[in-house]
Amino acid sequence: MIDIDKIQKSVGIIGESEEMRDMLHLIGQVAPTEISVLINGDSGSGKEMVAKAIHKNSRRKFEPYIIVNCGAIPAGIIESELFGHKKGSFTGAGEDRKGYFESAHKGTIFLDEIGETPLETQAKLLRVIENGEFIRVGDTKTQRVDVRVVAVTNRDLAEEVNNGSFRKDLYFRLKTITIRVPSLKEHFSDLHLYVERFGLEFSAKNDISFKGFGSDAFQVMKKYHWPGNVRELKNFVESLLVIQMGQRITGEMVTKALGLAGSDLKNPNLPVFIDRESDDVERELILRQLLFIRQEINEIKQIIQGGGKITPQSQSEQPMNSALYLPANIPLDSQVNPSEIMDIESGRISAIDPDSIGDVSMKDVEHELIESTLTKLNHNRRKTARALGLSERTLYRKIKEYNIIKK
Ligand SMILES: Nc1ncnc2c1ncn2[C@@H]1O[C@H](COP(=O)(O)OP(=O)(O)OP(=O)(O)O)[C@@H](O)[C@H]1O
Ligand SMILES: [Mg+2]
Repeated sequence: MIDIDKIQKSVGIIGESEEMRDMLHLIGQVAPTEISVLINGDSGSGKEMVAKAIHKNSRRKFEPYIIVNCGAIPAGIIESELFGHKKGSFTGAGEDRKGYFESAHKGTIFLDEIGETPLETQAKLLRVIENGEFIRVGDTKTQRVDVRVVAVTNRDLAEEVNNGSFRKDLYFRLKTITIRVPSLKEHFSDLHLYVERFGLEFSAKNDISFKGFGSDAFQVMKKYHWPGNVRELKNFVESLLVIQMGQRITGEMVTKALGLAGSDLKNPNLPVFIDRESDDVERELILRQLLFIRQEINEIKQIIQGGGKITPQSQSEQPMNSALYLPANIPLDSQVNPSEIMDIESGRISAIDPDSIGDVSMKDVEHELIESTLTKLNHNRRKTARALGLSERTLYRKIKEYNIIKK
């Protein structure tokens, strides 16, 4: 039984569309095996996340995970980087040196941009993938490693084989299991999930307000083709939140920010495509925002019931989640089902997402709580200890234990 949810959580992959679920299912099938995998997809579509998900869900998850960007290593030194070298094998080789394959022993090696490796190196890669054997540069002795290879490309390797720049045997070896990461435009039904998650994360981290995106904003976003895929979307959401500081994002703002003069639209001549789902998206955002308000009310209640007054000091030190609130001008959709609001109103608000139960330990929670309180209180240990009800000594010990450093 493949646990798609667990795979997503292991590295934070977002997506519920059929395309993403199919891909996650395939990851779940191949991850526990020892087979080498080829991942392809457009730039920024999430290939690196997929590679990491394979490692994290494999039997090798506690062993090394070595990332090698083959495209960034000059051809002259790539073999010594990958397989190591013997002292004196070339000018500057003053010591014996381990290569990435040796460092990845028992774990996984992630060969990014494999299409960029020189042909001679490709032959050596094939050998190490097939039987774990390699020779350090300048050595004569064959060495063995146990490494799983996950290779990534955004090139069309079949075409590279045809024009002679990629070895056919290596291609056939790698392509047996190919995971294709869909481009963003192929799974627009996930767009609202990305926008919401990136918006919430960024606003919480930077303590700015997030009033959500209007349905017209989503309509405009769906007309753009996103050549930089999820990476471009993430940067776009973050920059919009900075530029429009605290405002609800409208279609007009998106049009302007994307510079949609026409050339980047998928089909600028068509009338605006009205997406029925966007009503649901907006409703979901409103419900969530109601939930945040509820959370804030609870916090206020706790302060009052705890006999504490909201003094100017506690207001400034522990602002309630000011990043998240319901804007006054949100048109409350008449389609909102009152029973859903009732559910939220009567629901118990807990700090832990029920979906995470079983995956987080007390230590994780403690670590996160201490770190975020420290950040919020500018690393003032006395105030942090007081806010958490700890002695300063205990706090000091825990900071050391979790290796929390001021960022
Ligand atoms: N499904 C996803 N869920 C959450 N974040 C994603 C997803 N896909 C991509 N991202 C985010 O987009 C950015 C780019 O992802 P990643 O580095 O995996 O892309 P890539 O395909 O390897 O890009 P490139 O071809 O440029 O190397 C990262 O910040 C990543 O967190
Ligand atoms: Mg990448």
